[in-house]
Amino acid sequence: MRIPIIAGNWKMHKTILETKEFLQQFCPLVNGSKARILIAPPFLAIPACVESVAGTRIEIGAQTMHEAEMGAFTGEVSAKMIKEAGASFVLLGHSERRHYFGETNKMIDHKVKRALSAHLLPILCIGETEKEREAGETNLVLQKQLSECLESSSAQDLAKIVIAYEPVWAIGTGKTATPQIAQEAHLLCRTFLEKKYGKEAAQKISILYGGSVKADTISALMDQPDIDGALVGGASLDPKGFAQIVNFT
Ligand code: PGA
Repeated sequence: MRIPIIAGNWKMHKTILETKEFLQQFCPLVNGSKARILIAPPFLAIPACVESVAGTRIEIGAQTMHEAEMGAFTGEVSAKMIKEAGASFVLLGHSERRHYFGETNKMIDHKVKRALSAHLLPILCIGETEKEREAGETNLVLQKQLSECLESSSAQDLAKIVIAYEPVWAIGTGKTATPQIAQEAHLLCRTFLEKKYGKEAAQKISILYGGSVKADTISALMDQPDIDGALVGGASLDPKGFAQIVNFT
């Protein structure tokens, strides 16, 4: 009942020209896919991406945004600007944003609300570090992130939000979580959301897995009952490789 979602997070990769070249190769390869296909390029490439995917089902989004509506925030980009550029979603609270740019759960909570008010689909990223997992704190960390990042969101809001579980130790390391570890974390998140928002909302929400997803790991992950898709970093940069991942679902 939940449509699979495969999202590519390009991080700080690809110029406008490289983006166009990628999409020329990628779009025809995923024509037959039933998955929702999402790509988050760097801000500058969003308009070129939107133009290149016109007429396809591929959706374009941003990798972050500022929580304020507008104002004196040099270098920042607002939800309204992203929406007007033709994007339909935004990644929020990615672990690199939390780690390198000091994003807190509170800021992310505000970003989620702002994205919703601009009619952007927020993809809320959560995940524990290796240290937290080793200390047996995974459940606590995930519950805290969900609770604080969704503090201002209602059950109606939840229907317009996607969660991405990305264990920090699996991002860019080649160490994909085993399907069992990922499933356990996804179920924990869904159970937590059920307690807060009710069964219906928790059953409807899509929870993506992220962290070193590759063409040879996607199908075992997607076989898990609570894994509804993937957020793919490194492996989304190559058109053929990313198409293989999309076409697995
Ligand atoms: P990765 O990145 O697939 O390169 O591990 C995932 C992410 O950071 O979203």
